Amino acid sequence: PLAPIMIQGPMPIEAEYFVSLLTDVRVEHSGNATFYLGTLNGHPIVVAKTGKGLENTAAATAIGISRYQPRIIINQGTSGGHDPKLNVGDIVLGEKSVNASNFKTPKLEAGEGSRPLNWIPMDLMASEGSAGEGDSATDAEKIRFYAGDETLLKLAMSLSKEHKSGNVVKGTIGSGNFWNNEIDRIAWLHKNLGTSVEEMESASAAQIAHAYGVPFLGIRILSNNITNHGEYNPGTAEACQIFVKTVVEAYIASL
Ligand code: 5AD
Repeated sequence: PLAPIMIQGPMPIEAEYFVSLLTDVRVEHSGNATFYLGTLNGHPIVVAKTGKGLENTAAATAIGISRYQPRIIINQGTSGGHDPKLNVGDIVLGEKSVNASNFKTPKLEAGEGSRPLNWIPMDLMASEGSAGEGDSATDAEKIRFYAGDETLLKLAMSLSKEHKSGNVVKGTIGSGNFWNNEIDRIAWLHKNLGTSVEEMESASAAQIAHAYGVPFLGIRILSNNITNHGEYNPGTAEACQIFVKTVVEAYIASL
């Protein structure tokens, strides 16, 4: 049998539209994840409703890979803009994703407070040793990016005109169990990590997909952007899945 295409979405509104496109759907559960197995244009698809956040996504990705051995994984859904040039409804293709919540703090004494804008990126994959000890000479003090699959990126970019409610651009997806509403914090992440958007899943899925050698792409629509007063629009979740459908159909046709 053909290896399936895996489409991940965290919340019901980010997964169930895609499930509605499938025929002969069978449902399986594992922990907090729900897997919908079906076909699109005759090709096997697994939609993974992962639940929100890094842990649910990492677990759903590892379980999904070992159970279904997908040929590719697309992690898609909503996000919040870090780039003031991006508007609600625009889609960011993850040329890179980064865990934007991995930090080591400089030393401050009791009473000196906490200074998040001074925090130093920490790469947990740099070595098998302690990430907290050592100094800037150690390779743990750097930012780890996961590259999106080039073939998928090119294919998705070539279909940008199909997305009617906004632009489609390449960018950097920053993930963490956070929802930042501090404009200076967002600007810091945008400048220092190069983030186009923030959300809570893509980098976690990318890390696991890379570990297992499964081609991966994050596709994230802006549902909000407080850097330019872009108000939250949950309807963007379906618009994202409609674009992902276009990408998946083109991918199937290319096989
Ligand atoms: N910050 C963090 N997560 C966001 N999401 C949408 N916008 C944002 C934002 N500004 C996504 C996350 C998570 C859910 C809360 O919505 O990926 O799944």
